[in-house]
Amino acid sequence: MSETADVLVLGSGLAGLSVALAAARFADVLVLTKKRDSDSNTNYAQGGIAAVFGSQDSFRDHARDTLRCGAGRCDPDVVRQVVREAPERVRELEALGVGFSRSGRGFALGREGGHSRRRIVHAADFTGRAVEQVLLDRVRDHPRVRLIEDRLAVDLILESRLRHRRRGGGRDACWGAYVLDRGTGHVAAVTARCTVLATGGCGKVYLYTSNPDVATGDGVAMAYRAGAPVQDLEFVQFHPTCLYHPRAKSFLLSEALRGEGAVLRTLDGTRFMPRVHRDAELAPRDVVARAIDREMKRRGDPYVTLDLSHLRPAVVRARFPNICAELERFGFDLTRDPIPVVPAAHYMCGGVRATLGGRTPIAGLLAIGETACTGLHGANRLASNSLLEALVGAHHATAEVARRLGEVARAPRAQRWSARGTRPALESVLFDHNWDAVRRIMWDLVGIVRTDARLAVAEARLSLMGAEIEHDFRRLRVTPDLVELRNIALVAQLIVRSARLRRESRGLHYNLDLPRPVRRFAGHSTILRRRKHR
Ligand code: SIN
Repeated sequence: MSETADVLVLGSGLAGLSVALAAARFADVLVLTKKRDSDSNTNYAQGGIAAVFGSQDSFRDHARDTLRCGAGRCDPDVVRQVVREAPERVRELEALGVGFSRSGRGFALGREGGHSRRRIVHAADFTGRAVEQVLLDRVRDHPRVRLIEDRLAVDLILESRLRHRRRGGGRDACWGAYVLDRGTGHVAAVTARCTVLATGGCGKVYLYTSNPDVATGDGVAMAYRAGAPVQDLEFVQFHPTCLYHPRAKSFLLSEALRGEGAVLRTLDGTRFMPRVHRDAELAPRDVVARAIDREMKRRGDPYVTLDLSHLRPAVVRARFPNICAELERFGFDLTRDPIPVVPAAHYMCGGVRATLGGRTPIAGLLAIGETACTGLHGANRLASNSLLEALVGAHHATAEVARRLGEVARAPRAQRWSARGTRPALESVLFDHNWDAVRRIMWDLVGIVRTDARLAVAEARLSLMGAEIEHDFRRLRVTPDLVELRNIALVAQLIVRSARLRRESRGLHYNLDLPRPVRRFAGHSTILRRRKHR
């Protein structure tokens, strides 16, 4: 059955829920989420939200740290605006009911890598979860927001593909999405006057990631297929410290641990970061992740360790209750034991090219949060600037939504999803194989340290697999696995293409064959789908 709403929001993390709540002041909003409503990167964010509250801190310092981390690729205007608005947005979240940790009369402020000051507003070590729960409660209570689980968007509905196109050429417009109901397997057209992509990141493109299973780059893939430019996708951030344990899936050991004094050691107990960077364990993430990678390869060790045994146990337990409890399940005592850690894919700094308010070149299509590339993060995101971007982006996107609704009175009728000529897949083993193959190729060939030769091999293999998967998509009945596989295969190809376009090393993109930044190659790597004429 087809549905319609004023505003369609795809994704239920901080960005999606914030814009939904704000837009519900003047519109009917439908939020679709592909699994459970709390399955989002936001929910797993341990660190916090960077904002200037400290008496020694200033907007200038926060902006300077962001720009320095971004290695010459941030948009300074966007950085300054986000930094300036951060305190107000954080206070709004607190007013909604988020219980941030406090110290005396103000917020307790944590420290993370790349920050010259303490400025991370947090809720113990489960900030994302605290924020997500409050926003979900507000959304569930709101009469003008409907949130539906188990709905996976397959592709966007575009003006250019409507049978009865409206007059007037120019740029294309988005009128909602074709959405798969995971329960029934049925695909329906969900039309809307404004569609907001808030589908999060794409960590699942890599074999090892801190991200939950939902992070399959759906928004980037759909936007690219729809003809929106995607930008700077080579800048994949690897979090330096994920738990190394056969039973631990994607468990992050927050950078805040290093902010409070945790140190990294090789397996013989040697601390190695002080000889790599003057800020040692609090160097920017790209530096720390590369140093760990180098030590593991040099020594042939499968991991390094994170050590907090020199800190006061009571302080560690009070500040990191969630991490302590989780580690206990794996037999580790955070206050005493060296904890085995490895880097893992964590955050996509690139994305759909968009303004801070999410505007893309496709009318009626907004992209916000990790899905978007707004210019805040540049070539390397500063820790705890991601929830901040989602928050500030959602705030500005609300004005964009209002503007769009003022321009168009209703969405046109979309033709039904056609399953003509398709048949159910006879076996899923090929999907499973391709899932693993894409993620393995990306991990082995497009990881923390890249080379021209490895990127060329990755491109060739992914292009073959991409063609095969696209062929399957055309002839088989769509399933969630097929939709997500199609998306990770496409996003993987786009990451490799972006990486090959960048003829230098910068921020998170490190190529041994071109190991230094080169000013004349410093521009954005932008990829636009070539239009097929039909
Ligand atoms: C962390 O807690 O280390 C993650 C925070 C972030 O990615 O900004």
